[in-house]
Amino acid sequence: MAPAVRIFYPSSQRVSIILIKPHVIVTLLSGKRDNMPILKIARMGHPVLLEQAVAVTDIASVQDLIQDMAETLIDSGGIGLAAPQVHASDRVILISVPAGRTEEDEGETPITALINPVLTPIGDEKVMGWEGCLSIPGLRGSVPRFQAVQFEALNIKGEPMSGEARGMMARVLQHEVDHLDGILYPMRMQDHSQFGFDEEIGRYALNQD
Ligand code: NI
Repeated sequence: MAPAVRIFYPSSQRVSIILIKPHVIVTLLSGKRDNMPILKIARMGHPVLLEQAVAVTDIASVQDLIQDMAETLIDSGGIGLAAPQVHASDRVILISVPAGRTEEDEGETPITALINPVLTPIGDEKVMGWEGCLSIPGLRGSVPRFQAVQFEALNIKGEPMSGEARGMMARVLQHEVDHLDGILYPMRMQDHSQFGFDEEIGRYALNQD
């Protein structure tokens, strides 16, 4: 086993994210909209990905954006999406960790929108884990992240939500909130020998266990 590439996956009981299923987002808020476009995803090198996103002050103003981001996330097969990735510099992230994307069964996390999310690390232990990014297609890198975080945000209705996240969920939250601060995962990497193309990483690095 190669410790540098292990993700720490604790028990699912400690993951307490508020959940909104995609179809609920759609039916709750999009009754009047038939057409939900798939948004274009900005790729690394586009300046929007390096901007500090702006806090949302009017929840109504991001409802359409969130629906379109949900469609875009589903279409992409990704597990998280931040508004700057679709050229919107608002502090909005969506996360969705399907069952099967974690080593331990943390269960499925339906698409959840977090508005103005704030993370506070729980403890100072960091763990390494492989990450990819829809804005950096085809590549993967091993990134240190806090093992657990406390999060606060507004949900899609503008109501406060908070909780603790660990394992894959904590990692996805840190990755997505970084996007709101103009930070891409390669900027968090310490060992760039652990950075490469999906196919090669899958063929070599992930087979060393
Ligand atoms: Ni990303």
